[in-house]
Amino acid sequence: MSPGPNTVLSEREGRVAILTINRPDKLNALNDQVRDELLAELAKIEQDDSVGVVVITGAGEKSFIAGADISEFAGRAPFDQRHAMRSPRIFDVMSTFPKPVIAMINGFCLGGGCELSMSCDMRIASEKARFGQPEINLGLIPGGGGTQRLPRLVGMGNAMRMILSGDLIQAAEAKEIGLVDLVFAPEELRAKTLELAAKIASKSPLTLKVAKEALRASEKLPIEDGISYERDLFCLCFSSKDKEEGVAAFLEKRPAAWTGR
Ligand code: COA
Repeated sequence: MSPGPNTVLSEREGRVAILTINRPDKLNALNDQVRDELLAELAKIEQDDSVGVVVITGAGEKSFIAGADISEFAGRAPFDQRHAMRSPRIFDVMSTFPKPVIAMINGFCLGGGCELSMSCDMRIASEKARFGQPEINLGLIPGGGGTQRLPRLVGMGNAMRMILSGDLIQAAEAKEIGLVDLVFAPEELRAKTLELAAKIASKSPLTLKVAKEALRASEKLPIEDGISYERDLFCLCFSSKDKEEGVAAFLEKRPAAWTGR
């Protein structure tokens, strides 16, 4: 069978890789092909030292990702669905990816799209974006981590309201409850997101990786264990060339030249 057109576009801007889900006629709904292509692109980027940060977005004006492709659900048997949800799952790959991943949310951010954005390290949205977990309207519940990640970000009451009602919320409310970090006018979204991504990508890749690992550990560990883990990772940084370089650059009043070692 022909693989069909690419559903994920990959471009580079300096040290930032931009991945665009490219099914605008279906509001960038996530199907098997999109998931496979996203995994393949991320595997390439992981090995590519010229990329420091990944930005993920949706093609077109209207949608980031309008959820899982509902047409794949019709008549599907549980074991087939289980196969479709096999590991590695895109959500887990993104949350544990060794480089920062930013969701640039240009429109509808629904269901699996909202879950995918929550697996990213930061969410930056257009004022026009709308967010929701509407699975309840299909006789389903979120299946990409929504029942777990959403309450951690927005609190139990807000997560219950969104998941049980299926209602969509505007970007301003998403910001107010902590679902998104920054909101910009649609025409500013790309430039502002890439500005932040480029700044982050200019840091030591090794130190970014360790910082993300420490932050992600806070989602799993009791605070005492997390603080102890942070101390160990902090001390591990003392074995890196980049720590020597960063400290020397400060003392010599010059910019640091990172090597990622
Ligand atoms: N899966 C498959 N196709 C989808 C889709 C999805 N999650 N979301 C949108 N589409 C398709 C529509 O079927 C339509 O295709 P068509 O032109 O071949 O009929 C196309 O994308 C455009 O969507 P449309 O519904 O016409 O746009 P709209 O502006 O009227 O409504 C939404 C936008 C987002 C409110 C509406 O598309 C919607 O409710 N989508 C489903 C969201 C959802 O339940 N996501 C969770 C899935 S688990």
